[in-house]
Amino acid sequence: MKVLAINGSPRKEGNTHKMVVKVFEALEAEGIETELVQVGGKIIRGCLSCYKCIERKDKQCVTNNDLFNDLFRKMLAADGIILASPTYFADITPELKAVIDRAGFVSRVNGQLFRHKVGGAVVSLRRGGGVHAYDSINHLYQICGMFIVGSIYWNLGFGGKVGDEVFNDKEGMENMLDLGRSMAFLLRKLKS
Ligand SMILES: Cc1cc2nc3c(=O)[nH]c(=O)nc-3n(C[C@H](O)[C@H](O)[C@H](O)COP(=O)(O)O)c2cc1C
Repeated sequence: MKVLAINGSPRKEGNTHKMVVKVFEALEAEGIETELVQVGGKIIRGCLSCYKCIERKDKQCVTNNDLFNDLFRKMLAADGIILASPTYFADITPELKAVIDRAGFVSRVNGQLFRHKVGGAVVSLRRGGGVHAYDSINHLYQICGMFIVGSIYWNLGFGGKVGDEVFNDKEGMENMLDLGRSMAFLLRKLKS
């Protein structure tokens, strides 16, 4: 079983990355394979609204000159998906939003390719607006027939500067471990 995480932060090993690594710690302890792809800071276009994916139904996006189609294939191969983002003006980053818009469309028009996959949201923030970003991620899972996994509080971690600041959010980090354990639990149930 495999969980793919997609990080919308442009920072290489920033707060969001540290949170995802914590979720992975719990997943890997349960024998689940993990992979992290960073889309923040890379070129990924938004949806063109050309509706070619509806005509073609070929499980890919017609925009083929960026990282999307490779990433989408990884999403299809994964049993679980974690979408992770820092909070930018109370929402997710534009790179992650581009992934959501295009992946959501291609999945839906090809017969709900994400149905019954497991989804988790991970959001970092300095101070406010994180729940709105968290909701933006969950909207994808909710209309793609996926199972959403939470933790024992919102899947948020507080940290501003690059560094180890997010590690000081002990409750946030505990939630990340809990999220990983719950994802592993659900994945096992679904596979049994
Ligand atoms: C353009 C921009 C907008 C931001 N907007 C918010 C915000 O609305 N609320 C907040 O709490 N933090 C905001 N932040 C801070 C980041 O969400 C926070 O530092 C986050 O932990 C960074 O994660 P990263 O290290 O993974 O990139 C913003 C940062 C940037 C660069």
